[in-house]
Amino acid sequence: MRIRIIFLIALLSLTVESQAQTLMPVPDTLSGAVINLTMHKDSVQFFPGKITLTYAFNAFHYHGPTIILRKGFNVSLVVNNQIGDTTTLHWHGLHVASKNDGGPFSMIMAGMSWNPQFKVMDRASTYWYHPHMDKKTAEQAIRGAAGMIIVRDSMEAALNLPRNYGVDDFPIIVQCLQFDSVNQPSAKGMRDSTLLVIGVTKPFVNLPAQVVRLRLLNASGERTFQFGFTGNKSFHQIASDGGLLQTPFSTTRVRLSPGERAEVLLDLSGMIGQTIYLMSYASELPMGVAGGPTMYMPPPSPPMDSPLNGIDFNILKINVATQTSNPITTIPSSLVTVTPFLTSASTKSRTILMTAVDTMNMDGPFLFNGLPFDMKRIDYYIPLGSVETWTLINKTMVGHPFHLHDSQFYIIDRKGVLPGPSESGRKDVVLLMPYDTVRIITKFEDFTNDTIPYMFHCHILMHEDDGMMGQFLVVPASEAGIVNQINSSGVSIYPNPGNSDITIQVKNKECLIEDILVFDLPGRKQIDVHLQLPSTETKLNTGQLSPGEYIIQVRTKAGISFQKFIRE
Ligand code: C2O
Ligand code: CU
Ligand code: CU
Repeated sequence: MRIRIIFLIALLSLTVESQAQTLMPVPDTLSGAVINLTMHKDSVQFFPGKITLTYAFNAFHYHGPTIILRKGFNVSLVVNNQIGDTTTLHWHGLHVASKNDGGPFSMIMAGMSWNPQFKVMDRASTYWYHPHMDKKTAEQAIRGAAGMIIVRDSMEAALNLPRNYGVDDFPIIVQCLQFDSVNQPSAKGMRDSTLLVIGVTKPFVNLPAQVVRLRLLNASGERTFQFGFTGNKSFHQIASDGGLLQTPFSTTRVRLSPGERAEVLLDLSGMIGQTIYLMSYASELPMGVAGGPTMYMPPPSPPMDSPLNGIDFNILKINVATQTSNPITTIPSSLVTVTPFLTSASTKSRTILMTAVDTMNMDGPFLFNGLPFDMKRIDYYIPLGSVETWTLINKTMVGHPFHLHDSQFYIIDRKGVLPGPSESGRKDVVLLMPYDTVRIITKFEDFTNDTIPYMFHCHILMHEDDGMMGQFLVVPASEAGIVNQINSSGVSIYPNPGNSDITIQVKNKECLIEDILVFDLPGRKQIDVHLQLPSTETKLNTGQLSPGEYIIQVRTKAGISFQKFIRE
């Protein structure tokens, strides 16, 4: 085993030296009140002469433009789907209404467009966008359909930080892909070995000899990076997923699992002409975290077998060039106020268990609380304004990056230990180590919706697609207690599948039906019926619906029920 690893390292450095380096592209930006994104099919030659089919946005062949948003401003995003398949587009990390979130319910059919409009409420930080189609997120995202979002706000603008995009402030989107035998990205997992920075292999960048800001985003499907620089050069981390930290702190590593972001300041003063590398010190990752040392599995389980696993490797070559005019040369001593939510007597707690269907199988499927994701099942009804602590318990020998939609959260502790400075700010992804327990606290504010849920899931995209996802509705506080009651009290729809006439009935005599709404899966309202005389049973004419799947929402005095209905 040892000999083999050494051989692979030798081979790897040989290929790195023998291939030409490619200048890392800096994606163009889009900003303003209306942002148009067209997702289309394209192709790229990652390996000379070999064509890889990709998905990209606008004029890009891979990934898309960097979207610049300003806190407090309204934005209208027009997403045009030209990939010839159904998709969705999610604004990872943004606090928006669930109908604007781009989760699995907001499907954009081939050739159609989707137009979420919202006011930007987020703090200045680095976010990103990617598809979120049920069971197809991995396939679509690893073909390149992703891009960065930079939110700016007045608190950040008041600080003496590099923010000249592409000059002293750089998007660094890192992805590790696995290719199949015909050079197409494979969502299978465990053998990812092609490193891309903004879609190019063997990348280099020229950075000025001053303090530069790097916005690191791990957009990989599975791999965790233990980022650092050559020779353990220190840098300052200034932001975590959802905002600036209270104070910059000096470190030599930042660990990012899939979906996580960090902004770092790297001081290159006095280094003109020198070359350093952004690296991953993956030898330091624990076994079981994707990218860490290979775990031997008895046959027939396939071993995690990427040559990058468990070794330290270069990601991006940095050539230090001349200073710009008015360079930033100092690191601020403090940044912004960060106020974690506090627990109180009314704090609600929930526990989420991460389990494996087969505990000996390293590549899943994995589950939350023993259940695979089901678009028809709402896992939690959360009252608006609720402060909640979620205890995440990983019962598997594999690491899982847990991601929450809607709200940024704070990490309370990891196995009882307070988070270090890197994890003490606003977060929307937290990596659970094998057999780890992490407690987070958050508040569900501003948006309710009775139909379109928010997601929580593992951000290893294959795990997500295999069912490691759940969903919650944030509902008006007055309804929260009763919605579960009616779901168990039994609304029945028959026949289902059905044709143009169906019957809707509630068992519980106190649950008189008041309204019936029918939505298609993208969440568009198709039927809206108000009963003049509330009743335990009513007929519904579904003649206008075309064949397919729908969600029927039945509202009664006691609450709301959602049922899937198949129109034949
Ligand atoms: Cu980055 Cu639910 O996703
Ligand atoms: Cu997200
Ligand atoms: Cu996972």
